[in-house]
Amino acid sequence: MASTQALSHVYPLGTRINDAGHIEVGGCDLLDVAERFGTPAYVVAEDDLRARARAFVTAFEAAGHTDFRVIFASKTFPATAVMGVFAQEGLGCDVASAGEQHLALAAGFAPRDLVLHGNARDDQEFELALRAGVGLIVLDNFDDIARLARLASGPQPVLLRVTPDVRGETHDKISTGQADSKFGLGLDDVREAIRQLERIPLLDLRGIHFHIGSNIRELTPFRDAIAAVADLGDFPVYDLGGGLGVPYLACEAAPSIEDYVGEIVAAAHELLGPDKRLLIEPGRALVANGTVTIYRVVSMKQNVSTWVAVDGGMSDNLRPMLYGARYEADIADRPGGETRVRLTGKHCESGDVLIDDALLDEPRVGDLIVVPVTGAYGHAMANNYNGVPRPPVIFCRDGEARAVVRRESFDDLTARDL
Ligand SMILES: Cc1ncc(COP(=O)(O)O)c(C=O)c1O
Repeated sequence: MASTQALSHVYPLGTRINDAGHIEVGGCDLLDVAERFGTPAYVVAEDDLRARARAFVTAFEAAGHTDFRVIFASKTFPATAVMGVFAQEGLGCDVASAGEQHLALAAGFAPRDLVLHGNARDDQEFELALRAGVGLIVLDNFDDIARLARLASGPQPVLLRVTPDVRGETHDKISTGQADSKFGLGLDDVREAIRQLERIPLLDLRGIHFHIGSNIRELTPFRDAIAAVADLGDFPVYDLGGGLGVPYLACEAAPSIEDYVGEIVAAAHELLGPDKRLLIEPGRALVANGTVTIYRVVSMKQNVSTWVAVDGGMSDNLRPMLYGARYEADIADRPGGETRVRLTGKHCESGDVLIDDALLDEPRVGDLIVVPVTGAYGHAMANNYNGVPRPPVIFCRDGEARAVVRRESFDDLTARDL
């Protein structure tokens, strides 16, 4: 019998504690995964990614809106295997650079399914997008308009990114909808941009884009943003960006995918009209909860705090250092527990603390630590600080584990040296 002890709801869908009392993700015992692939490693429940992609699509259908596209914001987990899952599920792909465009095409997306973003794209990035035939280019500023007008030699569908002056409750560094944002054109400037585009026939203005920020766990700001752009004109397409937040801790909740889509569809019908093509660009809500990172405890010590040091840290998860992001952890074969520790990484920096107040079951050197909700911006922001090779990405499904990104080697660390 599997244990009835409940794991936090933030773990990937289908995660359970198996007969041996070990945490199992995608049907794979994490002790076996660690044995086979080493640590640290990102462990992805493939079915979780697919279920969330389908939930977005189903939610539009349930809300009675058929002209829509769900577009994966690939910045959150730019591994071709992850992007490929979403391509298979019929999603489009949001890319924020020529590099992400390269990854999306390698992952199997058709060029017309790509939406290109960015606030500082140079000639080369636009040329690559035009040559590939990217479906939509989102124009962020007046320089974008001038640059793309100069480079385009055939009709190119574009959207205008608007800063609607709406702020969702989230960390300052990932809030983008406020008037003083580095992204997009303010509501007055966008009217001038619309007039400019009317005089540039090759740039085919299809509609308006906004993205008010990320990890927003309330629905009102999305409605407010739709209201803010409603009187800019009557366009066939509205791209409402991403932003739906997720729970990182057992005590946290976020709106469901169904409630979020229901609210934005209702607001769009009411404020923009029922006949618009609606695009959304979820990232975090598609990938964050589907992944756990596994680490091995390497050393421990006691001073004012109890320190538990693992074999990764700020090279595989920068979010605690960038945003003060909070996580929880378990020991893979003793989930739960009451020992309060500071879970720290191996890097030469005091700020390299993954979790300030982790509760574990009497941790020991050699234990396997599991940190859930590391799918968004873990792999994406991984780095080689202190010469630490980046972790592999392991897909788990129906009890089968396979590496889809291998662990970096020491040779990789010198591979670019001339
Ligand atoms: C333009 C744009 N769209 C979509 C997203 C995805 O946002 P989220 O991961 O919060 O859904 C981002 C990320 O910040 C973004 O910049």
